[in-house]
Amino acid sequence: MMTLSTLAQNMPVYLDESKPVEQRIDDALSRMTLDEKIAVIHAQSKFSSPGVKRLGFPDLWTDDGPHGVRPDVLWDEWEQAGQTNDSCVAFPALTCLAATWNPQLARLYGENLAEEALYRNKHVMLGPGVNIYRTPLGGRNFEYMGEDPWLASRMVVPYIQGLQSKGVAACVKHYALNNDEEYRHQVNVKISDRALHEIYLPAFKAAVQEGGAWSIMGAYNLYQGVHNCHNATMLNKILKKDWGFDGVVISDWGGCHNTDEAIKNGLDLEFGSWTNGLTAGASNAYDNYYLALPYKKLIQEGKYSTKELDEKVRRVLRLFYRTTMNRQKPHGFLCSESHYATALKIAQEGIVLLKNDRNLLPINLQTTKKILVVGENAIKMMTVGGGSSSLKVQKEILPLDGIKARFTDAQIDYVRGYVGDTVQSYNGVTVGRSLYETRSQAELTAEAVAKAKEADVVIFVGGLNKSDYQDCEGHDRKSYDLPYAQNEVIEAILKVNPRLVYVNISGNGAALPWIKKVPAVVQAWFIGSEAGEAIASVLAGDVNPSGKLPFTWYASLNQCGAHATGSYPGTWREDYKIIDEEYKEGIYVGYRYTDSKKLKPLFAFGHGLSYTTFKVGKATANKQVMTTDGQISFTVPVTNTGNRAGSETIQLYIAAKQSKVDRPVKELKAFQKVYLQPGETRNVTITIGSEALSYYDETRHDWCAEPGKYEALIGTASDLLPTKHTFQLK
Ligand code: BGC
Repeated sequence: MMTLSTLAQNMPVYLDESKPVEQRIDDALSRMTLDEKIAVIHAQSKFSSPGVKRLGFPDLWTDDGPHGVRPDVLWDEWEQAGQTNDSCVAFPALTCLAATWNPQLARLYGENLAEEALYRNKHVMLGPGVNIYRTPLGGRNFEYMGEDPWLASRMVVPYIQGLQSKGVAACVKHYALNNDEEYRHQVNVKISDRALHEIYLPAFKAAVQEGGAWSIMGAYNLYQGVHNCHNATMLNKILKKDWGFDGVVISDWGGCHNTDEAIKNGLDLEFGSWTNGLTAGASNAYDNYYLALPYKKLIQEGKYSTKELDEKVRRVLRLFYRTTMNRQKPHGFLCSESHYATALKIAQEGIVLLKNDRNLLPINLQTTKKILVVGENAIKMMTVGGGSSSLKVQKEILPLDGIKARFTDAQIDYVRGYVGDTVQSYNGVTVGRSLYETRSQAELTAEAVAKAKEADVVIFVGGLNKSDYQDCEGHDRKSYDLPYAQNEVIEAILKVNPRLVYVNISGNGAALPWIKKVPAVVQAWFIGSEAGEAIASVLAGDVNPSGKLPFTWYASLNQCGAHATGSYPGTWREDYKIIDEEYKEGIYVGYRYTDSKKLKPLFAFGHGLSYTTFKVGKATANKQVMTTDGQISFTVPVTNTGNRAGSETIQLYIAAKQSKVDRPVKELKAFQKVYLQPGETRNVTITIGSEALSYYDETRHDWCAEPGKYEALIGTASDLLPTKHTFQLK
């Protein structure tokens, strides 16, 4: 009989959990055949790649990401599989998470999402996304964390740590410079090293070095003329060599185009290629992937040794040990009360009160008897659509339902106001009550106006939706304006009832031509399963809003550097195969651009009001002179001067007062959210190191903190920084 100890003696190293992982990887690698190695570096279905059955490595299952766990699709097709166990909780979109400015919530988000993924047996979540909000026309901005590299970095790290603490890999996307959706496979980005390193890479770098991301997704677009899924500079040099990434580079679905480049330039795992085989579908299409039989053939012919292959397999095995082979990971659960509670909390903290003249909000529960809700977004499911982040939810509380449930003492009336999106289903999920409308726009407007006359307050729930050319993958918006007849209806309502609350649902800013006339504006994002409840709780004042904009809300597109410099969307080459897009605005993205041109946006980066008021006192510092290897701390008293408890986010921006190079007027380098009771004062202390003073030196190819004079500007929004402190770097 085999005793336990002989079992242990016979246990191969790769299965022996007492052995270091790297040793187990070496052992597994030494046992794998060429076919097995080739098999683990490319997909076997839309979302899975094989393990090594002979050795007991399970298949690896990926899934979108990033706001919930996407419903299963068929093995070879995008069509939904129609499972009964894949209705999930939709968490708020990442713009909303970023708007909380609360890294603890990002951690909770990651943990909760991992639990849903574990239940669904998914090992890699395709997210989070940290591409920078370069233009408000960007179709996928709603999936990302805004315009600022520091904010995105602080929010992405805990998200990844939360997810991976449960044994589910993050796949940070889309690395890098995927800032156009339109022609995303053809755009070739030309950018200065400085803008690359200061604006577009920091969140990825933080994800890798601080978050410890186990995988990263190569982007569709090109950089320096080479596709990012097999771009030696991006992958071999920056990601793997400079940042020390030890995880797996996964191609975006269909982002791989060339076997030689894929072999040499740092891609590890190929997914979603639309090869001829897949189109014909006659044999196993996946065999025709760039890293499948074509690669094997090149090895057999002697063009390549197994050096590159072994390196890729090593990384994939490392991912196996972190996920599929991790026997300590929990089982997970779906649609739990705790997940809904998290979704609600993030939604409530992320909603931004942009404007609130005459304290129209919160809506007075005693005096408000008649509420008119207008707008398609009040009745439209937003957890579906938008591309790969589309979900199949167990529940989604629509804004109108949330308002009805909260304002039970008032009479709630609803009119659609305009014909919006007539698409009835996305990715096989029906959109809900987005009904077809036969009346003319004039009739719809007249109806809204007639009812608005009678209402104590009108809540217009508008904005964008998840259909093509709006907040959606694959295309960018064609204009900065609100779609459909929204502006017309709002203007008409304003003529009869100025008590209008505009609730904007979107992941992007938009032109709001009537802004001066509308007293209250709430930015409510795409906030998932608990949307209606979260919105109603803010409108009613149960929740005191504390969200802050993670991007600059431009008054018009020419306030945005990418547009003002004529850089976006680039120019087709003569052969119409590639679009060259030079980022002429360089580092001047978002507030860095509006600051440099002294432009006043509609709402500044970091702006967000509260139902209470805060006073930020004078900042003091613990020293006047700091050294390159030292730190400096600033302390600022913050008082809640109103009569409601609430949270304020203290933001610290750095201004370099002299420099060899052009520096932005200021840059966000630290922030802290603080919760205060009425009348309470707290000292908020924020510490920075010299990296907060650095710029990327293109001649030395490294970060540089120049000795000299700096200012720390501290306040509650990028345009509201009442206290500053001058100090020196020695
Ligand atoms: C998207 C990715 C997504 C993948 C799988 C691609 O088209 O760009 O973000 O993860 O599809 O659905």
